[in-house]
Amino acid sequence: MIENLENNRFEPANESGNDSSESIDTVPPTANEFFKSPGFYKNAQRYWSQISPTIDGMLGGLSMIDTTDVQGSSRFLKDLFKMKPPPNPHRALDCGAGIGRVTKNLLINYFKCVDLVEQDENFVRKANDYLSVNGQLNEKIGTIYNVGLQDFTPTENTYDIIWCQWVLGHLTDDDLCAYFKRCTSGLTKDGCIVIKENFTSTDDFCIDAVDSSVTRSLRIFKRILESSNLRIVRICKQENFIQGLFPVYTIACKPIQRC
Ligand SMILES: C[S@@+](CC[C@H](N)C(=O)[O-])C[C@H]1O[C@@H](n2cnc3c(N)ncnc32)[C@H](O)[C@@H]1O
Repeated sequence: MIENLENNRFEPANESGNDSSESIDTVPPTANEFFKSPGFYKNAQRYWSQISPTIDGMLGGLSMIDTTDVQGSSRFLKDLFKMKPPPNPHRALDCGAGIGRVTKNLLINYFKCVDLVEQDENFVRKANDYLSVNGQLNEKIGTIYNVGLQDFTPTENTYDIIWCQWVLGHLTDDDLCAYFKRCTSGLTKDGCIVIKENFTSTDDFCIDAVDSSVTRSLRIFKRILESSNLRIVRICKQENFIQGLFPVYTIACKPIQRC
């Protein structure tokens, strides 16, 4: 998910869906075919259930990028608080939270309360430890929901920031759009959805059959935001990551029309 796994990478075929240089057996799936495969969510669940509940596990073995990542996110959040009107610093939601790396290193420094949503029960168990001091869960932690984002509905009018990092490639386009719409209802008046994800450097998507995810292009992602009635209010490229990774952008969005 984090790294550019060249060996597991399928580029889409040409526009007709066929590449004449390949036999029919080796034509890679389109994103839609991949999304429709019966194992799409199950395979991701199975993949993450085998990953160690550590920072290294959360970052695909690249724990060395944790500090740079958090510094970049911190700068981005500070800029969001300078917007007019700024989001309130009351409640944030960490989506696809894993063991709570983003919550612990970033969100609890800026918000009075942070809820988490994570599909893997082992990570949820670990998050309870990781976010505790002397056996006491940090008082800023609200609820840790153990459910996939595709089945999760944030409580209405609750969150000042809904932070989604390195998880949205695990949702199909349709589920992502539906999730964004539910998140819109979960936002407070000046709230934002923040997306920090890998993007392909071309116009193509990229399928990772190992963790059952897709990496989208900015163009594809912007189309999904538009269909979800979201507009971009800030976008920033993460700098100083190690070579060979997908470009990472942080994007803040607000609803075009309040529902
Ligand atoms: C690359 S890790 C990132 C964890 C965390 N966001 C971070 O940056 O440290 C991806 C996380 O997304 C979770 N995940 C995968 N599919 C998910 C889904 N459908 N709903 C919620 N979480 C999911 C995984 O279990 C894992 O914890």
